[in-house]
Amino acid sequence: MPTLEQARRWYPADDPVHGFEHVLRVYRMAERLALAEGADLETVRAAVLLHDAQDSRAGGDEEQAEKRGNHHLRSAEFAAKVLGAEGWPAERIAAVQHCIQAHRFRDDSTAPQSLEAQVLFDADKLDAIGAIGVVRALAFAISAGKPVYYPVSPGFLETGELEAGEAHSAYHEYLFKLVKLKDRLYTPSARILAERRHARMVEFFEGLAAEMGS
Ligand code: ADP
Ligand code: NI
Repeated sequence: MPTLEQARRWYPADDPVHGFEHVLRVYRMAERLALAEGADLETVRAAVLLHDAQDSRAGGDEEQAEKRGNHHLRSAEFAAKVLGAEGWPAERIAAVQHCIQAHRFRDDSTAPQSLEAQVLFDADKLDAIGAIGVVRALAFAISAGKPVYYPVSPGFLETGELEAGEAHSAYHEYLFKLVKLKDRLYTPSARILAERRHARMVEFFEGLAAEMGS
């Protein structure tokens, strides 16, 4: 089992979206969900520490954005290396890898099958909504050089495709993904916690849109 200090080295210190502070919040939340739901703690802990370990940094150029798109797959490969070197048995490594491969909202080709994978997914998504979710979405937009708010076209609302000249603002991210997350969670414990977080986030983004005159 990697220690927290070991894991800290895998994450950028200065990334407010996917830095180690995100991992620590997900770690605490995942432990809480695992205890409530009866998931295997060691699998969950290892999966949390490794889930964004490769290429998850926000911002940067096109190449970085493309790498980010595969960060779950690269992090799962990295996990096999780290846990293999520690002598973990193959089936336990595979269980951790499944959690990591299934943690993304944007790539739903691998749905979380095990309780442990559902716990990682839910803990990670609880960190994408609520007040902290707002902070991360704004930080992502700012570090990527995108506006916090930009009027959303009817086309984007329908298909998720941007029109010519339309920026993918933090408000777009809210409509495209964040507002849907609470209904995508798997565990009953996470669904309860999501309610208040969701309400706070909606209040912020709808308030922002109202002030910006949309
Ligand atoms: P997932 O792996 O579940 O698809 P991401 O890695 O895409 O999640 O997103 C993680 C965090 O980054 C979330 O808090 C999300 O709101 C934020 N984020 C991702 N893409 C954007 C974006 N284009 N604009 C604002 N925030 C974003
Ligand atoms: Ni991720």
